[in-house]
Amino acid sequence: MQNEGLNFVHRLIQAPGQSRRTLVLLHGTGGDESDLLPLGRALDPEAALLGVRGKVMEGPMPRFFRRLEEGVFDVEDLVFRTHELADFLRGAVATYGLDAANLVAVGYSNGANIAASMLLLEPDVLTHAVLLRSMVPLVPEQLPDLTGRRVFMASGLHDPILPADNAQRLADMLKQAGADVDLQWSNAGHGLLEHEVEQARAFVASLG
Ligand code: MLT
Repeated sequence: MQNEGLNFVHRLIQAPGQSRRTLVLLHGTGGDESDLLPLGRALDPEAALLGVRGKVMEGPMPRFFRRLEEGVFDVEDLVFRTHELADFLRGAVATYGLDAANLVAVGYSNGANIAASMLLLEPDVLTHAVLLRSMVPLVPEQLPDLTGRRVFMASGLHDPILPADNAQRLADMLKQAGADVDLQWSNAGHGLLEHEVEQARAFVASLG
């Protein structure tokens, strides 16, 4: 389903059954709103899937926020884009009648980073999150209260783009904010491995 009134290009696939969960699918650099639909379906066969396309272009590649170079973010743009995406999600909840208490972000790389930023700056929007290859997007002036939020992180020990110590810092920061964080390390680089998809699937299933 497309709705031009909502100001991000997106695709919504309604839940095939009675599930009230929506997976918000946030792609990596160069992806689009359709990219993570197969992953979303693999993680939850019953959920609605909302694929969103980042608005910031880096050459031909859509992203969710600007970066100055690899791993160095334009924080001002990131803050703006985080609130903009949160507004979009509030609008999508109202327009499509989604359950605001059951929005689970599934982000990969750049998409995981904006999902992490949303947890930190707009803590009421996402119920839980799956962060696949993520790092600290920014350090907020004050940590939010993320009590009751569950976060699954899958990180690669040899990821050349998102350094392991940085992923660990993000996990620590989210824990300090009260989130229940499950960080799984793999002997992997930036690309996701099949067993990590299975770990993420089990996490989503455990959300009930
Ligand atoms: C980012 O820019 O968010 C990270 O470097 C990951 C990516 O390149 O997508």
